[in-house]
Amino acid sequence: MTITTDARVVRDRFTGPAIEAEHLVKRFGDTTAVDDVSFSVPQGTVLGLLGPNGAGKTTTVRMMTTLSRPTSGSARVAGHDVAREPELVRRSMGLTGQAATVDELLTGRENLRLMGSLYGLPKGEVRRLSDELLERFSLTDAGHKVVKDYSGGMRRRLDLAVSLIATPPVLFLDEPTTGLDPRSRVELWDVLRGLVRDGTTLLLTTQYLEEADQLADRIVVIDHGRIIAEGTPLELKDQSGQAAIVLTVSHADQVEAARALLSAHVEGVHVDVAARRLTAPAEGLHDMTRVAAVFERSEIVLDDLGLQRPSLDDVFLSLTGHRAESDTASGDPGDTGDTRDTRDTRDTRDTRDPADTSSTAEESR
Ligand SMILES: Nc1ncnc2c1ncn2[C@@H]1O[C@H](COP(=O)(O)OP(=O)(O)OP(=O)(O)O)[C@@H](O)[C@H]1O
Ligand SMILES: [Mg+2]
Repeated sequence: MTITTDARVVRDRFTGPAIEAEHLVKRFGDTTAVDDVSFSVPQGTVLGLLGPNGAGKTTTVRMMTTLSRPTSGSARVAGHDVAREPELVRRSMGLTGQAATVDELLTGRENLRLMGSLYGLPKGEVRRLSDELLERFSLTDAGHKVVKDYSGGMRRRLDLAVSLIATPPVLFLDEPTTGLDPRSRVELWDVLRGLVRDGTTLLLTTQYLEEADQLADRIVVIDHGRIIAEGTPLELKDQSGQAAIVLTVSHADQVEAARALLSAHVEGVHVDVAARRLTAPAEGLHDMTRVAAVFERSEIVLDDLGLQRPSLDDVFLSLTGHRAESDTASGDPGDTGDTRDTRDTRDTRDTRDPADTSSTAEESR
């Protein structure tokens, strides 16, 4: 396969949403992996597709990247329909899959050059880009080593570098930081932020609420193949309506007085005497400013006063009844009625249905 492309041209010419899904459905036998999913991602922004194991994240990404055909519904990448114009879609995007796609027996640099030549880029350009990407992902020293000797973090970075060789305007990242240590995760986030600054549109799937919170402009939460919530990270946190006023009293002997004063204005005050901290449920900012004014007029000295919004973790729990990290959907009163074991099916699927374009050819025949 040779694809000649200059993604920057595509990026500059096209002004509509970079990614669009309309009523996407994917069934595998009795399992509905993706159930009527629609969303739209403006150019230069980040959509976080958030959900637990087996939610349908990878299946959605595979349909959007032409690796799997939707059972029904449609999707467009850079304005191109995934079913009718798969070649144009592939020219507009890069994909870092959940399972590593680099060749273990080649060096990092060789992997990059191989991918560059597959895209039909001129030799000199491939050489320059490869070195630039190795540098950008802190792999310059490791560039001559074979990939099987790389650490997990180095592989993940190389995966991402390889998917960037053709400077695609749209990038799909399926759980880009799963298995990375916290430091490598933060480093990768920085790289991704840099790409977005340069105008790249990202769709990233994640099970890490913190990751979606850090990177995404908008978040779509899916569970059992269905969208159960969407919005900005802030909107999602507000939706669960569990914000709290938190104030820390400076002097231990004023904690009781603070409790009395706060209780006179809001209900449900909780006191942690040892930490000199008082918390109370709040509707929003106006509750906090009201409390701030009350304390301002009192003799009580405060170290800190603020509004604590629920974490995305709390939001997920309130939306789904289970934590995002849980690796099975058991105990969920969902009405899909299936009894799949997400871990097992996922593992066998990876060998049965490899993420390469040859499976697409088979599927679309
Ligand atoms: N090729 C396939 N054949 C049969 N079932 C499949 C296939 N691909 C996915 N599934 C099923 O579809 C559902 C969604 O799977 P998917 O891999 O999209 O979830 P995910 O959100 O990516 O999960 P994870 O976080 O574990 O990667 C699961 O129940 C899975 O077992
Ligand atoms: Mg997945």
